[in-house]
Amino acid sequence: MKNIFLCGFMGCGKSSVGKALSSVLDAPFADLDELIVKHAEMSIPQIFEKYGQAHFRTLETNEIEKISAQNGNIIATGGGAMVNADNARIAKRNGVVVFLDVDFETCYERIAGDTNRPIVQSNTKEQLLELYNTRKAHYEQNCDFKLYATDLTIDQICLKIKQLIF
Ligand code: S3P
Repeated sequence: MKNIFLCGFMGCGKSSVGKALSSVLDAPFADLDELIVKHAEMSIPQIFEKYGQAHFRTLETNEIEKISAQNGNIIATGGGAMVNADNARIAKRNGVVVFLDVDFETCYERIAGDTNRPIVQSNTKEQLLELYNTRKAHYEQNCDFKLYATDLTIDQICLKIKQLIF
Protein backbone atom coordinates (compact mmCIF):
# COMPACT_ATOMS: atom_id res chain seq x y z
CA MET A 1 0.00 0.00 0.00
CA LYS A 2 1.11 3.54 -0.76
CA ASN A 3 1.45 6.10 2.03
CA ILE A 4 -1.64 8.19 2.70
CA PHE A 5 -0.87 11.79 3.64
CA LEU A 6 -3.71 13.72 5.27
CA CYS A 7 -3.53 17.47 4.82
CA GLY A 8 -5.60 20.51 5.60
CA PHE A 9 -5.87 23.47 7.94
CA MET A 10 -5.14 23.21 11.67
CA GLY A 11 -8.14 21.64 13.39
CA CYS A 12 -9.50 19.86 10.31
CA GLY A 13 -9.01 16.48 12.03
CA LYS A 14 -5.87 15.11 10.35
CA SER A 15 -4.57 13.39 13.50
CA SER A 16 -7.93 12.01 14.69
CA VAL A 17 -8.81 10.75 11.21
CA GLY A 18 -5.27 9.41 10.73
CA LYS A 19 -5.42 7.33 13.91
CA ALA A 20 -8.85 5.95 13.03
CA LEU A 21 -7.83 5.21 9.44
CA SER A 22 -4.71 3.44 10.64
CA SER A 23 -6.83 1.04 12.66
CA VAL A 24 -9.38 0.58 9.84
CA LEU A 25 -6.63 -0.22 7.32
CA ASP A 26 -4.36 -1.93 9.84
CA ALA A 27 -1.49 0.33 8.79
CA PRO A 28 1.01 2.25 10.92
CA PHE A 29 0.16 5.83 11.84
CA ALA A 30 2.69 8.66 11.89
CA ASP A 31 2.15 12.24 12.97
CA LEU A 32 4.69 14.55 11.31
CA ASP A 33 4.55 17.09 14.12
CA GLU A 34 5.22 14.36 16.70
CA LEU A 35 8.19 13.12 14.68
CA ILE A 36 9.61 16.64 14.49
CA VAL A 37 9.17 17.14 18.25
CA LYS A 38 10.75 13.77 18.99
CA HIS A 39 13.81 14.37 16.83
CA ALA A 40 14.30 18.00 17.88
CA GLU A 41 13.67 17.12 21.53
CA MET A 42 11.74 20.37 21.78
CA SER A 43 8.07 21.36 21.57
CA ILE A 44 6.77 23.10 18.44
CA PRO A 45 6.42 26.46 20.25
CA GLN A 46 10.03 26.10 21.47
CA ILE A 47 11.27 25.36 17.92
CA PHE A 48 9.42 28.41 16.57
CA GLU A 49 10.68 30.61 19.39
CA LYS A 50 14.30 29.49 19.35
CA TYR A 51 14.90 28.90 15.63
CA GLY A 52 11.97 30.50 13.80
CA GLN A 53 9.30 29.17 11.48
CA ALA A 54 11.69 28.71 8.53
CA HIS A 55 13.72 26.20 10.53
CA PHE A 56 10.55 24.35 11.51
CA ARG A 57 9.67 24.12 7.79
CA THR A 58 13.09 22.57 7.07
CA LEU A 59 12.54 19.97 9.79
CA GLU A 60 9.09 19.31 8.33
CA THR A 61 10.50 18.70 4.84
CA ASN A 62 13.16 16.36 6.32
CA GLU A 63 10.46 14.25 7.98
CA ILE A 64 8.39 14.13 4.78
CA GLU A 65 11.46 12.92 2.90
CA LYS A 66 12.17 10.23 5.47
CA ILE A 67 8.64 8.87 5.64
CA SER A 68 8.31 9.04 1.86
CA ALA A 69 11.11 6.52 1.59
CA GLN A 70 8.72 3.99 3.14
CA ASN A 71 5.35 2.56 2.10
CA GLY A 72 2.08 1.85 3.80
CA ASN A 73 1.92 4.57 6.44
CA ILE A 74 -1.00 6.79 7.33
CA ILE A 75 0.48 10.22 7.91
CA ALA A 76 -1.03 13.29 9.55
CA THR A 77 0.85 16.31 8.22
CA GLY A 78 1.02 19.72 9.89
CA GLY A 79 -1.24 22.44 8.52
CA GLY A 80 1.62 24.12 6.65
CA ALA A 81 3.24 21.01 5.20
CA MET A 82 1.26 20.50 1.98
CA VAL A 83 1.03 24.22 1.27
CA ASN A 84 4.53 23.73 -0.10
CA ALA A 85 4.35 22.18 -3.58
CA ASP A 86 7.83 20.64 -3.21
CA ASN A 87 6.75 18.81 -0.06
CA ALA A 88 3.65 17.55 -1.86
CA ARG A 89 5.79 16.36 -4.77
CA ILE A 90 7.99 14.38 -2.37
CA ALA A 91 4.93 12.91 -0.64
CA LYS A 92 3.39 11.86 -3.95
CA ARG A 93 6.45 9.89 -5.03
CA ASN A 94 5.27 7.10 -2.82
CA GLY A 95 1.88 8.16 -1.66
CA VAL A 96 -1.41 9.91 -2.10
CA VAL A 97 -2.33 13.24 -0.56
CA VAL A 98 -5.86 13.66 0.78
CA PHE A 99 -7.13 17.13 1.66
CA LEU A 100 -9.65 17.21 4.52
CA ASP A 101 -11.72 20.23 3.62
CA VAL A 102 -13.39 21.56 6.77
CA ASP A 103 -15.08 24.96 7.22
CA PHE A 104 -13.02 27.69 8.86
CA GLU A 105 -15.41 28.18 11.79
CA THR A 106 -15.26 24.47 12.67
CA CYS A 107 -11.45 24.47 12.51
CA TYR A 108 -11.30 27.69 14.52
CA GLU A 109 -13.51 26.34 17.32
CA ARG A 110 -11.07 23.46 17.71
CA ILE A 111 -7.84 25.48 17.67
CA ALA A 112 -8.77 28.78 19.36
CA GLY A 113 -6.48 29.50 22.29
CA ASP A 114 -4.25 26.46 21.70
CA THR A 115 -0.89 27.32 23.22
CA ASN A 116 0.82 24.43 21.39
CA ARG A 117 0.11 26.06 18.00
CA PRO A 118 2.36 29.10 17.48
CA ILE A 119 0.49 30.15 14.33
CA VAL A 120 -2.71 30.40 16.39
CA GLN A 121 -0.94 32.28 19.17
CA SER A 122 0.53 34.88 16.84
CA ASN A 123 -2.52 35.62 14.67
CA THR A 124 -5.99 37.09 15.22
CA LYS A 125 -9.09 35.22 14.08
CA GLU A 126 -9.29 37.50 11.04
CA GLN A 127 -5.67 36.78 10.12
CA LEU A 128 -6.25 33.05 10.55
CA LEU A 129 -9.24 33.27 8.22
CA GLU A 130 -7.05 34.99 5.64
CA LEU A 131 -4.40 32.29 6.05
CA TYR A 132 -7.09 29.62 5.76
CA ASN A 133 -8.30 31.06 2.47
CA THR A 134 -4.81 31.39 1.03
CA ARG A 135 -3.81 27.91 2.08
CA LYS A 136 -6.99 26.29 0.84
CA ALA A 137 -6.02 27.05 -2.75
CA HIS A 138 -2.66 25.36 -2.19
CA TYR A 139 -4.16 22.28 -0.55
CA GLU A 140 -6.52 21.97 -3.50
CA GLN A 141 -3.72 22.32 -5.99
CA ASN A 142 -1.32 19.96 -4.22
CA CYS A 143 -3.69 17.15 -3.19
CA ASP A 144 -4.73 14.03 -5.11
CA PHE A 145 -8.16 13.89 -3.47
CA LYS A 146 -10.27 16.49 -1.70
CA LEU A 147 -12.87 15.41 0.82
CA TYR A 148 -15.45 17.83 2.18
CA ALA A 149 -15.45 16.68 5.77
CA THR A 150 -17.14 19.34 7.90
CA ASP A 151 -20.35 17.45 8.59
CA LEU A 152 -18.97 13.92 8.55
CA THR A 153 -18.06 11.70 11.49
CA ILE A 154 -14.57 10.24 11.70
CA ASP A 155 -15.93 6.83 10.64
CA GLN A 156 -17.64 8.38 7.60
CA ILE A 157 -14.44 10.18 6.64
CA CYS A 158 -12.44 6.92 6.89
CA LEU A 159 -14.98 5.14 4.70
CA LYS A 160 -14.87 7.91 2.09
CA ILE A 161 -11.08 7.86 2.02
CA LYS A 162 -11.15 4.09 1.50
CA GLN A 163 -13.60 4.55 -1.37
CA LEU A 164 -11.50 7.32 -2.91
CA ILE A 165 -8.23 5.43 -2.79
CA PHE A 166 -9.02 1.75 -3.23
C1 S3P B 1 1.14 24.53 11.60
C2 S3P B 1 0.30 23.52 11.99
C3 S3P B 1 0.62 22.59 13.08
C4 S3P B 1 2.12 22.48 13.26
C5 S3P B 1 2.74 23.83 13.42
C6 S3P B 1 2.48 24.72 12.21
C7 S3P B 1 0.72 25.41 10.50
O1 S3P B 1 0.05 21.31 12.82
O2 S3P B 1 2.70 21.81 12.17
O3 S3P B 1 2.22 24.41 14.59
O4 S3P B 1 1.55 26.14 9.95
O5 S3P B 1 -0.49 25.38 10.14
P1 S3P B 1 -1.55 21.02 12.94
O6 S3P B 1 -2.14 21.33 11.61
O7 S3P B 1 -1.60 19.58 13.25
O8 S3P B 1 -2.07 21.88 14.03
